[in-house]
Amino acid sequence: MTIRRLSPEILSAMEGAVGQNGISVQPAGMAKYLGDWAGDHQGDALAVLRPGSVSEVQALMRLCSELRLGIVPQGGNTGLVSGAIDSKGGGLVVLSLERLNAIRQIDTDNCTLRADAGCVLQTIKDACETQDCLFPLALGAQGSCQIGGNAATNAGGVNVLRYGMARDLILGLEVVLADGELWNGFSGLRKNNSGYDLKQLFIGSEGTLGIITGVEVKLFPKPAKTETAYLGLASFDAAVTLFNQARRDCSDLISAFEIIGLECIELARLIDPAMRAPVSAPVQVLIEVSSSAAIDLNGLLAGFLADAMEKGLVTDAVLAASSAQARSFWAIREGLVEGQAKRGYHVRTDLSVKISDIPALIEQACRFVANDHPGWIPLAYGHAGDGNIHFNVLPPLELAENEARTRGSRITAGLYDIAVGLGGSISAEHGIGRSRRKEFWAGLSPTHRRMVAALKSALDPKGLMNPGCLLPATETFP
Ligand code: FAD
Ligand code: LAC
Ligand code: ZN
Repeated sequence: MTIRRLSPEILSAMEGAVGQNGISVQPAGMAKYLGDWAGDHQGDALAVLRPGSVSEVQALMRLCSELRLGIVPQGGNTGLVSGAIDSKGGGLVVLSLERLNAIRQIDTDNCTLRADAGCVLQTIKDACETQDCLFPLALGAQGSCQIGGNAATNAGGVNVLRYGMARDLILGLEVVLADGELWNGFSGLRKNNSGYDLKQLFIGSEGTLGIITGVEVKLFPKPAKTETAYLGLASFDAAVTLFNQARRDCSDLISAFEIIGLECIELARLIDPAMRAPVSAPVQVLIEVSSSAAIDLNGLLAGFLADAMEKGLVTDAVLAASSAQARSFWAIREGLVEGQAKRGYHVRTDLSVKISDIPALIEQACRFVANDHPGWIPLAYGHAGDGNIHFNVLPPLELAENEARTRGSRITAGLYDIAVGLGGSISAEHGIGRSRRKEFWAGLSPTHRRMVAALKSALDPKGLMNPGCLLPATETFP
């Protein structure tokens, strides 16, 4: 039964658990927690709870379990698939981790870090730098997203091709289960082959199995040297060939290989009209190589690019002469994402295919948009070194938003079909959330669904953890 409002008794029990400052029920106090980064989703909650300690999280979870009240865990709310915001009228409470934000320990002898789940990713990265270490998870939202949210979504970003996704970087988790019990899954060990690796269940679970309250991650030596270049190419085919060659010729020292279709540059200019790409080719690549040892990276990258230009693979290349110039290249990559949010509603995807299928994905998707949805503007960019393309589509400017949203769902479905037809995935990194739940669930085999449902019922038998996100509410399980 959906709870429509919290009685004074329940509110006072919640206040007892988190204190008066840890709970908001008025629209003004809750507003910041109920809208997403892109302005796409506006949700609802009976209350926003902000525990300040792990024991407060436990007390709240015990209370919600008793009341059979559903909970939406929330990190930095940058997830983009409506996982941390309920739909309107759902009768749930939001549990924000923002007050649980301490770095607990940096162990430089073992290259590990432990932090509260609500610690902002940028804070962790900065703290590591001061210890001459690198925490390599890097994404445009790193100034707002939290390490717990990164774990819950198995975040990717621009350095995955070198260091892996969040799943590869996490050594341990601390989790409050749906009934309030605490699981301490920290060990500090790099190898631990004793039975089921339970932390992996929670990584990528999008708040549907428990509340992550602490995260332990691997650190790496801080790169002493980084070289960045911005390249122009004639085609996406050439970009894939270049990537394979670059891996070999740059001694596997590539830390980023981002692809940017020419159409995206206009969007970056919405953020800064003075922004100019250093090349004007139809396909552009931002490549970064880095190393912690004294290697002649500049010579390595320059030599590789000279060879690629001679072979005709690269038509234009600008090697950054300073870190400021390198940052200006990255500003284009970050600006084009912000520019899309500024432009308003648009179709947003994070498709995954084999790296060799990237050209086919983009070619088929462009053809589909041109034939079936003329006037819509396709954009392709993303983490080409991981086979992850953000194929986004902007509506014609004159189209009313409600019409654009209706048509946009059909376009999204068509793009998912193309990715799946190529043996790919509808989500490379952003996850399923509420936006993609139906397509995700429909695409699973009965056996896969049964295993997912069994895990969910075992860890969250009352179906209170983020109902409606990732999988259907428990009562509708097959
Ligand atoms: P939220 O958005 O708050 O939550 C996401 C999901 O995790 C929700 O289902 C929520 O319920 C759950 N959750 C959050 N915290 C917890 C917790 N402590 N315990 C249990 N469940 C929890 N993603 C990438 O992978 N790669 C990118 O390159 C990338 N770039 C981005 C760039 C921009 C500009 C933006 C806005 C987003 C980008 N994202 C990217 C998406 C997003 O930043 C990531 O998914 C990020 O990991 C979400 O973290 P968050 O703290 O904001 O989580
Ligand atoms: C990016 C986000 C949108 O790659 O995933 O910029
Ligand atoms: Zn991305």
